[in-house]
Amino acid sequence: MNPQALVFDAYGTLYDVHAVIRRCDEFWPGKGAAISQLWRQKQLEYTWQRSLMRRYVPFSQITREALAYACEALKLALDDARTQALMQEYLKLAAYPDVPGALPRFGERQLAILTNGSPDMIEPLVKHSGLKFDAVLSVDAVKMFKPVPDVYQLAVDRLGVAKDAIGFVSSNCWDALGAKSFGFRVYWINRTGAPVDRLGFQPDGLLGSLGDLPEVLR
Ligand code: LAC
Repeated sequence: MNPQALVFDAYGTLYDVHAVIRRCDEFWPGKGAAISQLWRQKQLEYTWQRSLMRRYVPFSQITREALAYACEALKLALDDARTQALMQEYLKLAAYPDVPGALPRFGERQLAILTNGSPDMIEPLVKHSGLKFDAVLSVDAVKMFKPVPDVYQLAVDRLGVAKDAIGFVSSNCWDALGAKSFGFRVYWINRTGAPVDRLGFQPDGLLGSLGDLPEVLR
């Protein structure tokens, strides 16, 4: 079925989490890429671990704690001012270059974001980017993180569209397959040519750029 609504993951799909590298490099020359990579890795791990532990905290706290871990692991001094500055960077992450041109090409479909991001992070980011969505949905409403099925159900409930009529778009393969396991039609935007995770599912569509999706859905 051709999807009636499209639901997008935010971080890593629409917005580039590694846009923080430049600021990290200003603070710790030559270390920006390493910090960014470990920061993101721990951020995701903490979401999964906290969901399993049933110890939800907002993504802003997770992100701050993952940064603290990354800096300590890399033996880099992190003070409150740098923490604040880097958390601010997260509120103005760059959109990937293929995103702004693609969104207006999806016709009359409802467009929504479904993100781990807490409202205090995602709302300023979307506003800053100028990208337009019909709904911005945060896991904060269910106090669990992706890929817990309740999170994907939130989009069904809020958009009023059956799950098999929702196209879910993510560049995070684990998220794409979580959404597929739930029952969405799934488009994995694989910008880096990564292999498919071995989780028992395959995406319905595999595209190198979001710019290719409007054509696929015509
Ligand atoms: C999000 C995470 C997966 O935006 O990056 O939900």
